[in-house]
Amino acid sequence: MIDKIEAIKQEIEQFNIDSEETLEEFRLRFLSRKGKIQAMFGMMGDVPNEQKAAVGKAMNEVKNLAQSTFDQAKEELASAQKKTFGALDDISLPVEPAYTGSFHPLTQALNQIKEIFLRLGFNIADGPELEDDFHNFTALNFPKDHPARDMQDTFFVRKSDDENTDDLVLRTHTSPVQIRLMKEQAPPVRSIMPGRVYRNEAVTAKSYFQFNQVEGLYVDEKVTLGELIETLVMFSKLMYGSDVKYRVRPSFFPFTEPSMEMDIWWENEKGGQWLEILGAGMVDPNVFEAVGIDPEKYTGYAFGMGVDRIAMLRYGIDDIRLLYDNDIRFLQQFES
Ligand code: PHE
Repeated sequence: MIDKIEAIKQEIEQFNIDSEETLEEFRLRFLSRKGKIQAMFGMMGDVPNEQKAAVGKAMNEVKNLAQSTFDQAKEELASAQKKTFGALDDISLPVEPAYTGSFHPLTQALNQIKEIFLRLGFNIADGPELEDDFHNFTALNFPKDHPARDMQDTFFVRKSDDENTDDLVLRTHTSPVQIRLMKEQAPPVRSIMPGRVYRNEAVTAKSYFQFNQVEGLYVDEKVTLGELIETLVMFSKLMYGSDVKYRVRPSFFPFTEPSMEMDIWWENEKGGQWLEILGAGMVDPNVFEAVGIDPEKYTGYAFGMGVDRIAMLRYGIDDIRLLYDNDIRFLQQFES
């Protein structure tokens, strides 16, 4: 019996495992249920009682040898395979292009707007999204209970009955940043103020409860309406190309007088339509008074443009909701 065990041991030691196939052959020959180790243990019944202990020990040693030989060979094969993969890699094989991400179309449009106004001599300022009534309305010449406040469907964060406590709102436009800027800085002021704004509007393809504006303000001695229009025309041409079709219409805002709006012609399959991209006007003397600037000495112009509208026009996007869904299939189209 000991001889038989010794023979199996030698067979194991001489077995050459050099591939997945020989590894499997080894497993079948020795370790499987019908393999030699199992058969060997089956012969235990024939072993005389006084030899059982010694034979059992020898059998266990052979069994452990088979198992460890198998485990070791398996590990070596796996790591050898890794190495050959490296060596065999075809370095000329084209790889799948990796999507590295890109700027959101709104960010792209905003960057272009900023670039244009920086070139025109403006700097950039900003202010808080949570505003008080004073900055969002009162200082901008919206008297209390004036119907013009209804033009801007406001999200109120704090409504107060107490006269000394101001209402808090999510800013409905970026114009309050004008007020903050003029309170901080004596003229000349020549800044743009980009930022997110909020309005309590029904969500449709054309309107959303949040969007982005860029406010512009230029205050100095002898600033004229002609300069305002010239600046906006220059902006449109730099943004949309020199053949852009635009028009300027009279309008109303409490904080500018006179006021106007600018539209851009948007060509589409149905022919085309005028789209409003901004409101503008000459700073109302009441606004200057609210911030302590002498309206006899200074004049100024202001404008507020919708970044979403501008991006939609630029990229032919017909539903504003797409800008906020974060659908990768949509965003991937704007890789730049
Ligand atoms: N704040 C105005 C709006 O959101 C836009 C505007 C800004 C108009 C500056 C005139 C001057 O509707």
